[in-house]
Amino acid sequence: MDISLMNIQRQHEVHAKEYEEAALGVLRSGGYIGGAEVAAFEEEFAAYEGAKYGISCGNGTDALVLALRALGIGKGDEVITVSWTFFATAESIAAVGATPVFVDVCADTYCMDPALAEAAITPRTKAILPVHFYGQSCDMDALRRICKKHGLYLVADCAQSTGTTYRGERRNTLGDVSCFSFFPTKNLGCDGDGGMVLTDDEAVARACRSLKVHGSGKDGLWTLKREYAQKNMPFPENMPDGESKYYNYLIGYNSRLDAIQAAILRKKLTHLDEFIQGRRKNAALYNAALQGTEYTTPAEAKDSEHSYYIYALKHPGAQAVMEKLKQKGVSCGTYYPVPLHLQGAFAQLGYREGDLPVTEELSKTTFAIPVFPELYDEERSYIIQVLKEALHG
Ligand SMILES: Cc1ncc(COP(=O)(O)O)c(C=O)c1O
Repeated sequence: MDISLMNIQRQHEVHAKEYEEAALGVLRSGGYIGGAEVAAFEEEFAAYEGAKYGISCGNGTDALVLALRALGIGKGDEVITVSWTFFATAESIAAVGATPVFVDVCADTYCMDPALAEAAITPRTKAILPVHFYGQSCDMDALRRICKKHGLYLVADCAQSTGTTYRGERRNTLGDVSCFSFFPTKNLGCDGDGGMVLTDDEAVARACRSLKVHGSGKDGLWTLKREYAQKNMPFPENMPDGESKYYNYLIGYNSRLDAIQAAILRKKLTHLDEFIQGRRKNAALYNAALQGTEYTTPAEAKDSEHSYYIYALKHPGAQAVMEKLKQKGVSCGTYYPVPLHLQGAFAQLGYREGDLPVTEELSKTTFAIPVFPELYDEERSYIIQVLKEALHG
């Protein structure tokens, strides 16, 4: 057998006609940037996840950057986050000029340890940025309490957790701002790059709407006026006062979701719950089959219904097990092999091996196996068989 870790082609095939017709409709319309499909998807996705405002953008990394900029986070500020995540989480903090402060994760859920986050707060801290890792929701009640107590923003990296539920509801949006990725392999993936910021805060929404199009338009003007008012400064009388895209008020970015992607995402959103149920079914079958073996199966946090973007097993001999799986045609991998506090790009922050023991151990002992919803029963059975064989050398 030859089984991929993720199989986007198979996902496309299941509802191919629907996606292809949606894309063709946009191609024939000539409206490729912005427009009705993008606006409708923003509305539908915000409603799905339970937020007031949805601001689409070019990718999940940009969503994080836009959110941090909209909150006014920048040079001299610290943002507490995790090291056990994809690079973009902390890269976005550095990209706005702030400093990521890394804390360890809980050994069972692999999500930010709220007590360690609180202990890392300094007078420079402006926000806490947890990651709903692998599709499991963080302890949002604890993190919300800490942020409220210390006057900090809570920015959630939901790139891996689209569709996850918390306390029985789809509430990725429990923070001040939530950032999503529609990278093709994600729970809700488009056929290219895409991202979204969700928030209930009008000021954050308007700032993001402007920042994503070069700081232009009426939202840019509104945001700039608000900044002046917050600083108790009079708004300059000679300021050009136009609402078109050629009037720029903030230094922003060019970060847009294409209409073709929005049209495809609208179709995929109608199937998302079915995709997540498929992931959860595969995870449950793996958990049952591997119970009592030397593998540690993923724990599901008390208040969270995991959406299994990634299904990772833990084993002290993870590297040898992965070798065996690969020899037998089962694709697998570590997400992620180098924790962010040890990445070359963050060397100047001065972290050392041993600073975040849980994260470092997980990077050596965990590995992801295929859990995508279109996995065939015989493929899953084969993977279980190979996993069991690998324990016997
Ligand atoms: C946790 C996390 N944050 C951020 C991102 C960035 O998303 P994108 O690749 O859409 O920029 C990803 C995606 O890979 C991710 O997994």
